[in-house]
Amino acid sequence: MKRILVATDKPFAKVAVDKIREVVVKAGYELVLLEKYTTKQELLDAVANVDAMIIRSDIADKEVINAGKNLRIIVRAGAGYDNIDLAACTEKGVVAMNTPGQNSNAVAELAFGLMIYAIRDSFNGGSGSELRGKSLGIHAYGNVGKYLALIAKGFGMDIYAFDPYIPKEQIVGDGLKWIGTADELYSKCQYVSLHIPANNETKKSINFDLLSKMPKGATLINTARKEVIDEASLLRMFTERPDFKYLSDVEPDCKAEVIGKFPGRYLFTAKKMGAQTAEANINAGIAAAVQIVDFFEKGDKTYQVNK
Ligand code: 3PG
Repeated sequence: MKRILVATDKPFAKVAVDKIREVVVKAGYELVLLEKYTTKQELLDAVANVDAMIIRSDIADKEVINAGKNLRIIVRAGAGYDNIDLAACTEKGVVAMNTPGQNSNAVAELAFGLMIYAIRDSFNGGSGSELRGKSLGIHAYGNVGKYLALIAKGFGMDIYAFDPYIPKEQIVGDGLKWIGTADELYSKCQYVSLHIPANNETKKSINFDLLSKMPKGATLINTARKEVIDEASLLRMFTERPDFKYLSDVEPDCKAEVIGKFPGRYLFTAKKMGAQTAEANINAGIAAAVQIVDFFEKGDKTYQVNK
């Protein structure tokens, strides 16, 4: 009987785990659950004799992958797979997949919520401002960017999108203003929301050169990854631009300095929570389980990311 491990340091909602179990049991497999683990050893022990593994932001490095003696497939229930050592997977013949789009609405709603919180002066009782008519730059127009645009349209924002991998016609067809360079996006937009993955091309790419181009009232929203920000540039923006705010679902390494020196100009969620909704957990969790069953039963590798 195939054994499917769900290893989540940050657990799925119970309703999602129940639904994942339904898919797994219906296929005649066994579900193994490892939640809120506190040491890497627990993960190494759990992966030792399973055939498949579902994770979230959990780190699947070479050691973890090699510890899975029978491991054939690992599915990241979510979009970003920067937490998986893809080369180690390929070397060991393990298929790695993600579940694109399944938690995107949740992340977009959080990004928008952060914007509302900031423009209303952190709900502090004072007089804030409104999003209608304000410029929003969507940096990368993937699944989250698209949901964000839908919400922003409802709010009457002036929406721009930059994504060198998406055809101009698609962005224009969705009723947004197409932008050809990151420089131009940051120059035009008071609000910029980041939806780029963390990879060799994007790490530390959000730097002072870009950020300093933003107009007065500049607000950067990061529900992507902390690694894409150049933190020296972030601190310089805070220092040189008293109007600058940074709202992030992923705490920067320089968090203590930001909190100490720039009160009222940042928001960091308590824990990475963009995808922390029952709906996102159910969608991504079920998708991951179904992809595993389809892989074993039909050889389906549709969402493979290590090829
Ligand atoms: C993703 O890449 O899908 C999101 O960052 C969500 O990550 P999480 O599953 O750890 O909440």
